[in-house]
Amino acid sequence: MERTFLMVKPDGVQRGLVGRIIGRFEDKGFGLIAGKLVQVTEAQAKRHYAEHEGKPFFDELVGFITSGPVFAMVWEGDDIITLSRMVIGKTKVTEALPGTIRGDFAAHTPFNLIHGSDGVESAEREIANFFAPQELVPYTRSVSSWI
Ligand code: PPS
Repeated sequence: MERTFLMVKPDGVQRGLVGRIIGRFEDKGFGLIAGKLVQVTEAQAKRHYAEHEGKPFFDELVGFITSGPVFAMVWEGDDIITLSRMVIGKTKVTEALPGTIRGDFAAHTPFNLIHGSDGVESAEREIANFFAPQELVPYTRSVSSWI
């Protein structure tokens, strides 16, 4: 069982898409084990996007993610890092296919609605940047063996 950090960005919260985005991952059969609305601080944003420091869009990225509340989540499931990124769709909205969250709801690339961890190490780091260990509530769902 793998864990990932998923975050509905400020555009998704402002557009009222949190419930529908959560539904996409519930539909897939993943387990939500933590979730909360967060006003991201500049320091927290810089830690989250540390790997992009120095890139031309870094300041814009930090400015965007701190511009309003986000909905931060931890999800669990087999191969969830790869599979959740398939559910999310490509970063550039011009490449995001219909049926993906970005393909269905996003029309401008920086405003691409949701972030998903791209590896096991980044997932662990990102989860720790947003959640204390006691905020994670893993549990067994009775449908697990049917998915
Ligand atoms: S890279 O350079 O290929 O690693 O970057 P990429 O994976 O495409 O994007 C990393 C995150 O930066 C966001 N992004 C941008 N934000 C603001 N402005 C511009 N121009 C821009 N280009 C990319 C992109 O949505 C990624 O955010 P996350 O939250 O990781 O999805």
